[in-house]
Amino acid sequence: MSMLEIKNVHKSFFTYTKPRLQAGIFHRPGARKVTSELLVLRGVDLTVEKGDVVAILGPSGSGKTTLLRCLNFLETADAGQLTFDGETFDLAQASRADIARLRKKTAFVFQSYNLFRNKTALQNVTEGLIIARKMPKEQADAVGMKMLKKVGLADRADYYPRQLSGGQQQRVAIARALASDPEIIYFDEPTSALDPELTGEVLAVMRQLAEEGMTMLVVTHEMGFARNVSSKTVFMENGVVVEQAPSHEFFANPKEERTREFLRKIAHTE
Ligand SMILES: Nc1ncnc2c1ncn2[C@@H]1O[C@H](COP(=O)(O)OP(=O)(O)OP(=O)(O)O)[C@@H](O)[C@H]1O
Ligand SMILES: [Mg+2]
Repeated sequence: MSMLEIKNVHKSFFTYTKPRLQAGIFHRPGARKVTSELLVLRGVDLTVEKGDVVAILGPSGSGKTTLLRCLNFLETADAGQLTFDGETFDLAQASRADIARLRKKTAFVFQSYNLFRNKTALQNVTEGLIIARKMPKEQADAVGMKMLKKVGLADRADYYPRQLSGGQQQRVAIARALASDPEIIYFDEPTSALDPELTGEVLAVMRQLAEEGMTMLVVTHEMGFARNVSSKTVFMENGVVVEQAPSHEFFANPKEERTREFLRKIAHTE
């Protein structure tokens, strides 16, 4: 049985545009509102095995972030199924209890760290344990310190986010994700907000987690990570999975012309 199976995820966004006022023409308020539907996910299927590190590649706007957000119910899909550890959730209409249960097993690392600015590194890591999991503070602090140590930041436990570099802040965010003891971590471009010289330290932590067997689903533009660290690579475009394969195969012998074109373009810009 696979750890995570995603089937047929669909998601559209509707945008409402108010009619522009033209000189001399009277518009009733709200009249002729233009609605357009943007199909962002058009039937995404994906399977993740325990211990897999799956890299999701794709051009900007292809729906990668939307997909990750739908998987953790940060966004409600229009349709789709997610099976986690044998339990199936309807991505379009799960109950609050279902969502809470699923989120206990998952963690999310965002591009922009999303740390509390008025809390120290340690407090950021322990907040969820103390508030959501009702863990006694001493125990939470012990877990927090262990995780900060793991990401190489034990000596920064009492620093506030503004006193940390971007790379360090992202490592705190990873420590926070680890503290909740997730079965899978979703990463959305964890290094793309960082200066190039700071991406290495974050990628090194992720590589270490991969080696320890952590299951991860990583949206990334880092081809080195996809090629050398991830076990499987997925190429998304226009809301569908164009191609997915074991990473060595994906890079050595891409089957789809669209994938080859994408890889050629990337090779030129790197
Ligand atoms: N809340 C929203 N409302 C309306 N449109 C949205 C919303 N979120 C995303 N979109 C649109 O959905 C499409 C897919 O966005 P998404 O952020 O998933 O792409 P992405 O693959 O993550 O791109 P990038 O590589 O730039 O991060 C884009 O056209 C985007 O403008
Ligand atoms: Mg994105």
